[in-house]
Amino acid sequence: MTQTVSELEFTQNLSEHRKTAQERAAILANPGFGDYFTDHTAIVDYRTDTEGNGTWSNARIEPYGPISLDPAAAVLHYGQEIFEGLKAYKHADGSVWTFRPEANAARLNRSAERLALPQLPEQVFLDAIRGIVAADREWIPSRDGESLYLRPFMIATEAFLGVRPAREVSFRVIASPAGNYFGGELKPVSIWISHNYARAGRGGTGAAKCGGNYAASLAAQMEAEAHGCKQVLFLDPFNDDAVEELGGMNVFFVFKDGRLVTPALTGTILEGVTRMSVIALAKDRGLDVQERKITLTEWRDGIASGEITEVFACGTAAVITPIGLLKDETESIGSADAKAGDVAMGIREQLLGIQTGVLEDTHGWLTRL
Ligand code: COI
Repeated sequence: MTQTVSELEFTQNLSEHRKTAQERAAILANPGFGDYFTDHTAIVDYRTDTEGNGTWSNARIEPYGPISLDPAAAVLHYGQEIFEGLKAYKHADGSVWTFRPEANAARLNRSAERLALPQLPEQVFLDAIRGIVAADREWIPSRDGESLYLRPFMIATEAFLGVRPAREVSFRVIASPAGNYFGGELKPVSIWISHNYARAGRGGTGAAKCGGNYAASLAAQMEAEAHGCKQVLFLDPFNDDAVEELGGMNVFFVFKDGRLVTPALTGTILEGVTRMSVIALAKDRGLDVQERKITLTEWRDGIASGEITEVFACGTAAVITPIGLLKDETESIGSADAKAGDVAMGIREQLLGIQTGVLEDTHGWLTRL
């Protein structure tokens, strides 16, 4: 299948605002995470012709609203869907920036390859982001730790029931004002160890950001919540209970001797943009960063001996969130009352400082929108 990269101009069909200024102000006063959506959406269509040549076309910014889909659309039956998460930040001078969007565009295309969806030109990805942020500028919250969360996604819209890659696809971006992912003030979270469910296996879709991975995490997430935990930890039961990742975040371990350890990218965990940024910032600080296998036993023993001093989760949505307690039916590792660690909070502050324009962007990670 070949693909034409046509020059795409996003047309603008900007409507009346969906929400009044008062409604928007009430939402921005307490945005939470993922509950409210802005006034517009970006859309680009993809179609494959009878010769198998695919083209992206009809790029547009439209009023936010329901999607009309044929009930036989492939996404509804076979889950041919991928998505991304990135944020737009308003700086003190009113300018708006996003963080490493080219990394999200590249990961979207890696996910697309795995899910047999078409490649999206990076420029189209960036223009879609620019288009929606320009249309919804007044939706960007600007208090500490807040941002406009952008959710690009690609779905198979073709109506058919044979199992094959869809020939009609839609790429879209929606936006949602965001505060702390876990709600309220930042504090260490409790994590449930999933022994009943695995997230991914060798050769599976673990490294792809596809809806199916998150759907598969929900039964374990429900188990976690039933035990008073905010997230679930997935292990690889066929590899000595090696730590994989949380339901929607990567994990890091701070050692007393200056090591910072995170599970290696083996194809079963998500290649987080925050994960790679944390690695770079930690190296700048002189930490000895190790991407390697780390097992539940090493976690347990490290906390017991005091060798591991901090554990934290990271992701675009979660930024950096300290982990206090890890537990299952038989044991508790760490403490729910643990204080947020200095290393986690230091890197968090630095990362947010760069993203919000308070600190110098020495890595060149920001793109002005
Ligand atoms: C993100 O961090 O952007 C994600 O996609 C994770 C999801 C749990 C919100």
